[in-house]
Amino acid sequence: MLETLIENEQYNIGYLCTTRQCELGRAEHTAMRWVAADGERKDFTYRDLDGLSNRFANVLKNLGFSPGDVFFTFLPKTPEQFSTFLGSLKAQVITGTLFSNFGEEAILDRVGDAKAKGIITKKSYLKKINRVRDRMPALQYVILVDGEEHQSPDVLSYTQLMDAASPEFSTPPTPPDTPSILHYTSGSTGKSKGVLHAHRSVLMQHQTARDILQLTPEEIYWCTADQGWVTGTSYGIIGPWSVGVTQVHYGGQYDAQAWFHLLEQEGVTIWYTAPTALRMLMREDPALYRRFDLSRLKYIFSVGEPLNPEVIHWARKVLHHDIYDTWWQTETGAIMIANRPGLEIRPGSMGLPVAGVEPAIVSDSGEMLPGKEQGNLCLKPGWPSMFVTYWNNEEVYRQKFRNGFYFSGDTAYRDEDGYYWFMGRSDDVINTAGHLVSPFEVESALLEVDEVAESGVIGAPDDLLFEKVVAFISLRPPFEYSRELELKIRLHVSNKVSSFATPQEMIFVDSIPKNKSGKIMRRVLKARYLGTDAGDLSTLDI
Ligand code: WT7
Repeated sequence: MLETLIENEQYNIGYLCTTRQCELGRAEHTAMRWVAADGERKDFTYRDLDGLSNRFANVLKNLGFSPGDVFFTFLPKTPEQFSTFLGSLKAQVITGTLFSNFGEEAILDRVGDAKAKGIITKKSYLKKINRVRDRMPALQYVILVDGEEHQSPDVLSYTQLMDAASPEFSTPPTPPDTPSILHYTSGSTGKSKGVLHAHRSVLMQHQTARDILQLTPEEIYWCTADQGWVTGTSYGIIGPWSVGVTQVHYGGQYDAQAWFHLLEQEGVTIWYTAPTALRMLMREDPALYRRFDLSRLKYIFSVGEPLNPEVIHWARKVLHHDIYDTWWQTETGAIMIANRPGLEIRPGSMGLPVAGVEPAIVSDSGEMLPGKEQGNLCLKPGWPSMFVTYWNNEEVYRQKFRNGFYFSGDTAYRDEDGYYWFMGRSDDVINTAGHLVSPFEVESALLEVDEVAESGVIGAPDDLLFEKVVAFISLRPPFEYSRELELKIRLHVSNKVSSFATPQEMIFVDSIPKNKSGKIMRRVLKARYLGTDAGDLSTLDI
């Protein structure tokens, strides 16, 4: 099937997910069944998706975008999210996606850092962009998806632009290494980093969509991930549409009843979701599931955080299904290690490597570790969906590679049969409900609050979210703790960064432990929180 997907070295993702599918005989096949939050449904065939993305490619071209320019989508789940993303890729514009709950600082750190030339959003998000617009001089165009008419020469109406654009677009030949997607991800130090991918990633997203997720044009598939996240692009757009599947996309929020209703009503056969969502479903009254007929559902897959064995046991008992855990990262672009139908599941393990992927457990000094020793989870570079670089940050990119290995930042071990078991992360990055949150980003936002003198942010274990964001805060005298202040701080982080970065818990302290060079000792805060030993404190300055 791979041979038939790519012809004449045309690797363009936008083209392969639409025009190519029409050529392969799927023009009238449903590509997307859109279900709005209010239940309204609308089907889009591959021909529809091809036409809409062609128009949008022309919109960008008419506005003067050239290959290599950067464009972002900043939208909730809406049909336009998909057609604009694919259209932008057709025009060889580097395309980024943003979570719709991002605040102004988060926008600036991404859109500003990428020097994006354009962004598509909706009217109600415009003020967030406007608050930082003067700090993003490269941003020439804001397109409003719900704008009836152009507001000014640089705030434009999507409808008007689309009406004026031709539905014919001939996608330029796109060699495999052409830059494609830019996804920002959090590190433990510094601002979030732009992970740049190339069009060649489609090879691996296609392969894993078929071989791991079991997608074929006959399946009805639902990936619950937001498009702001790499799961929402690699497996909510590229992998599945390169295979010709029918995707269900739902515009509503998590709601147990609505989700089960959707699975039943749309006859979803393959479902890709996340552990936090599954744990939330697990908390519901089992009577809820009995009301729904999920007999068409064949497989459930999960990604983003550790999948506890209890969730697998629950799903077997209540849903009569296994859950296949998969492991990968923004940087890997596609699934690297996975459970899959036909392979015995060891509950708690991430499974076996995908064909062509070579993981290794490696010591800090770069030696491969034998047996079941725990160490850095690394990959041999060279898989097709490997990221190209960190945007404007070649130095940090290089630091990720040592001794011929890519260091993922996770720790794990491999059992005697080659199954990989996740242990944790080797850095301070917090994984809350599958979202990577940088403690640095939260600390920076906290410092902007007048009353806050210092802060240190850690991830602490949480039954539902895997980890929760906990902030230690010391106040500037004479300020004192009050409920109003706590609320003010919470709102500030939510507005500036995002709702998932907002501390779940705040602990007010007299001072924050720092080492001699002034670095916040998060390890000490974590030990204090957990009531464990913090280890060597010789460099501590308190
Ligand atoms: C980090 C990557 C996976 C694509 C979307 C998130 C954690 C991911 C698992 C898993 C335990 C997992 C890791 C990884 N993670 N999958 N199955 N079990 N942890 O991409 O935002 O780049 O996050 O998520 O720590 O490094 P991301």
